[in-house]
Amino acid sequence: LNEADKNLIQNSIRDVHDFPKEGIVFKDITTLLNNKEAFKTLMNHLEERYKSYNLDYICGIDSRGFIFGAALADRLGIGFVPVRKKGKLPSTTVCEKYELEYGYDEVEIHLDAFPKKKPNVLLIDDLIATGGTATAASKLIKKIDANLLEACFILNLTFLNGVKKVEEHTKVYAVLDI
Ligand code: PRP
Ligand code: ADE
Ligand code: MG
Repeated sequence: LNEADKNLIQNSIRDVHDFPKEGIVFKDITTLLNNKEAFKTLMNHLEERYKSYNLDYICGIDSRGFIFGAALADRLGIGFVPVRKKGKLPSTTVCEKYELEYGYDEVEIHLDAFPKKKPNVLLIDDLIATGGTATAASKLIKKIDANLLEACFILNLTFLNGVKKVEEHTKVYAVLDI
């Protein structure tokens, strides 16, 4: 990814101050998604990076990770698997709790999410902050016996050190460090 492409993607992401509460700078990816040049440049880059990984599935995290994950799975000609917030998946699931700023949340994956045995999987989400969500998702993927090759994020909020936490479970790649 050259500097111009990096800037195109980075500049397409909007900062919204004080959302969802005072003091937070919210990174809004809707302005990347509605910018066809920025979105295509990003997807070209992800396709180029991952086409040689021999992946069997892309796993995307509810909900913003679905957008990039499903688009990438289609580009690579492989299946997509959702990791969902608790209570949304209809069949038998495995569950993992994780810590939020206040309290806890849970994510789930279908027990039979990967029809292929010992598949090569890439985890993807729009952004890594504390790394809590991606750590829980990584544990789920391993629990159901997949090879988690890497976790990929469009944005890494470096000041929160989430990458360190996720790196205890898998390799990490972020398109943009901010
Ligand atoms: C946001 C973001 C990541 C997660 C990162 O999702 O899309 O999934 O937070 O935070 P962490 O690294 O501290 O765990 P959110 O839970 O707000 O839900 P959404 O994707 O449905 O908007
Ligand atoms: N998820 C956690 N922190 C966030 C932020 N600053 N912007 C967007 N999504 C987030
Ligand atoms: Mg999310």
